[in-house]
Amino acid sequence: MCGIVGYVGPEQAAPILLEGLTRLEYRGYDSAGLAVRDGNNRVEVVKAKGRLKALKDKTNDGSALKGNTGIGHTRWATHGEPSENNAHPHISDDLNVVAVHNGIIENFTEIKEKLIKNRYSFYSETDTEAIVKLIDYYYKKYNIGPIDAIAKTMVRVRGSYAIAVMFKDLPGEIWVARKDSPMIIGVSDDATYVASDVPAILNHTRSVYYIGNLEMACLRAGEVHFYNLDGDEIGKELSTIEWDTEAAEKGGFEHFMMKEIHEQPKAVSDTMNAYVKDGSIDFEAAGLSSEKLKKVKRVYIAACGSAYHVGMTAQYIIESLARVPVRVELASEFRYRNPILEEDSLVIAISQSGETADTLAAIREAKENGVPTLGIVNVVGSSIAREADSVINTMAGPEIAVATTKAYSAQLIAMYLFAIKLAFENGKIDKERHDGLLAEMATLPSKISKVLEDKERIQWFTAKFSLAHDVFFIGRGMDYAICLEGSLKMKEISYIHSEAYAAGELKHGTISLVEDGTLVIGVLTQPELYEKTRSNLVEVKSRGAYLMGLTSAGNYGIEDTVDFTIYIPKTDPLFADSLAVVPLQLMGYYMSVGRGLDVDKPRNLAKSVTVE
Ligand code: AGP
Repeated sequence: MCGIVGYVGPEQAAPILLEGLTRLEYRGYDSAGLAVRDGNNRVEVVKAKGRLKALKDKTNDGSALKGNTGIGHTRWATHGEPSENNAHPHISDDLNVVAVHNGIIENFTEIKEKLIKNRYSFYSETDTEAIVKLIDYYYKKYNIGPIDAIAKTMVRVRGSYAIAVMFKDLPGEIWVARKDSPMIIGVSDDATYVASDVPAILNHTRSVYYIGNLEMACLRAGEVHFYNLDGDEIGKELSTIEWDTEAAEKGGFEHFMMKEIHEQPKAVSDTMNAYVKDGSIDFEAAGLSSEKLKKVKRVYIAACGSAYHVGMTAQYIIESLARVPVRVELASEFRYRNPILEEDSLVIAISQSGETADTLAAIREAKENGVPTLGIVNVVGSSIAREADSVINTMAGPEIAVATTKAYSAQLIAMYLFAIKLAFENGKIDKERHDGLLAEMATLPSKISKVLEDKERIQWFTAKFSLAHDVFFIGRGMDYAICLEGSLKMKEISYIHSEAYAAGELKHGTISLVEDGTLVIGVLTQPELYEKTRSNLVEVKSRGAYLMGLTSAGNYGIEDTVDFTIYIPKTDPLFADSLAVVPLQLMGYYMSVGRGLDVDKPRNLAKSVTVE
């Protein structure tokens, strides 16, 4: 998964491309490159290994590259280790074709073999070089222009791609094509932009086109022409991006993650307000009619990482309210398990990016089995959004930090609304309970803000454990689900080993790991499980553990058991995870900052995992 950008217009391209790549670094940052051409056909390619800064230094912030048409790329290695040689753009030997690519070409080896037989040679280990030279091969062999060359290439390759191509003899043009990888095309009066994601073009235009799968386009200064695989020109609606530019900036916080943690009240209320109209939940625009909901007798949830943890929480809520069995699965398991999907089922795919390869594959698996699908995504027009039968868009806005926070919270809201709607449409809850739940949900934004007021205490406590090497999170029911998320936050940004355990499991092995001073965080927000979990805390305390309790206001007796307590405001137990997650996000954040780590771009991780 990588980031691509392109520009054609009256300005010098290189600085604009570099600015766009800066906004896309979260998509990958192990190497980067630019290709720029000036009016007289000279194409210059510059690449650098490492963070984007290396490329900026090498091109003197772009001023060393002259020309008003160009493409750029920031890479997350999939084929070929991070190196300047493997960095994009990739070229045909005579520079007839220069391109950048995001995605994975699954049959690139056979394509390379075909091309080698046709006297092509290869300088890199990448799959991208193979498609660049395949385009060049078709362009020269059939000599009937870029549409045909690209179309033949699209038919020939298997896999995913968002490519931006410059042809030596087509100055002032950038050709793009897409299958499964994200791409956005922006236009202004006199310039045209292409990028993997919105933040890269927001400073220049809000007017955008969404290009569909197996479509291509020709970008010229201020104009775009779209074509299908048959080479027929196709019309496209122009959309307007509502996100403010600073929404993709840090907004005064030190890190995107802290900014996004603080945006959770808004993400929660915006997501609620998008679907709750006059006291009722309206999913018509999502394509989820009451009739469809009445048919749902079983729910499968497929997701990855934090989105999977949302599914773990949602399972309890859907089963509790709607009395419909729910099975939650890691999408990477679901897609290869040949799942037995019952009649009258619904497969829900939860994904912030809407581009996670495993989750997209889960949607396709469900559709191949003839089961209706629902996507819960944060990126409008993303692949999962376009392939699911119905889509609930979370309204978290762009989430830049690799560690998800506000999108996670918005996904919880979407799942609460789904559970309440499903239960109410099927007569499992009455109007009073329905209205009461919506009324309580409406208090969540202010209650999240209340938890955030406690952040200094949380920072103080966390600092005491910045040298920890093992942290355990324990809880039962939905408290266990939130422990999973708290543990992932701790691991992924502070690199501290941590485990989440169902508290009742400790005695089956894990308790042997608890030593003097081991930090154990107990989550106790579910009234009927409170005493059970508290007794598990007593067990680990007797083995030397240092205890933190995370519980609801009013449970002050916990202070006889634990060494430090964080209280969250009272709410319906079904919604407690929306509040309990905030201190755990902050703990992960402060642990990472305390260890001097790159909070927004943790090692080995990318924001959107669009490869297997
Ligand atoms: C969460 O903090 C991680 N960055 C990661 O687990 C993420 O949730 C997972 O990769 C799924 O991403 P998605 O929601 O975009 O599908």
